[in-house]
Amino acid sequence: MKIGIIGAGGIGQAFAGHVARAGYELVLSNNRDPDSLAEIARALGPRTSVATREQAAQADVVMLAVPWLQVEAALSGLPPWKGRILIDATNPVVGPGFQAAELGGSTSSEVVASLAPGARVVKAANTLPRTLLASDPHEAGGRRVLFVSGDDADARKDVSGILQRSGFATIDLGDLASGGKLQQFPGGPLPTLNLIKLG
Ligand SMILES: NC(=O)c1ccc[n+]([C@@H]2O[C@H](COP(=O)([O-])OP(=O)(O)OC[C@H]3O[C@@H](n4cnc5c(N)ncnc54)[C@H](OP(=O)(O)O)[C@@H]3O)[C@@H](O)[C@H]2O)c1
Repeated sequence: MKIGIIGAGGIGQAFAGHVARAGYELVLSNNRDPDSLAEIARALGPRTSVATREQAAQADVVMLAVPWLQVEAALSGLPPWKGRILIDATNPVVGPGFQAAELGGSTSSEVVASLAPGARVVKAANTLPRTLLASDPHEAGGRRVLFVSGDDADARKDVSGILQRSGFATIDLGDLASGGKLQQFPGGPLPTLNLIKLG
């Protein structure tokens, strides 16, 4: 399975480190020339490459990890999603002091889903600061928890599988309207919790 990353910055690279170590093939992209990521890709090993945003978006599973104000641009003009999975790691922060975007009553991942028609959107990897997300998920004799929510149960299961193979424990929160709200930052009760699943 090939995983593409749109926005290989702090969160994208944190996630990339785990999935690369787990053996997945990876394609990194950002907002610049792909060569700007060459050194980072080299450090992740021979199964990681760099590409344009459009090329990364063609992977089997794609992570979106761009600033909220860039979400629309990052998802525009991409090839049809045709049911492929889009992992949404973004948070709807638009200004200093974690000022929240006005979303008109939707959760942020529902907004992302509306901008990526045909994608099966799964919200994940958005609840921890980048340094904690990047660190070894094995802690205190257990595994760090990441939450997943999405409207497609099979997609939630697939993303949970990727995260588990990468060392995390997962908790499935259900759909984007309810689960997505619980894990959304700011506002939801789950972001910033460093939960460890024992056993
Ligand atoms: N920082 C955290 O601790 C944290 C925790 C949880 C969730 N989040 C969320 O994760 C998302 C990413 O945050 P971050 O801290 O990783 O940000 P970041 O370090 O600034 O990285 C953002 C990445 O997005 C790329 N990008 C920006 N606009 C783009 C576009 N139009 N097309 C393609 N790529 C584009 C940037 O490319 P260039 O470098 O070329 O500009 C960069 O690679 C945000 O929504 C944030 O709220 C952050």
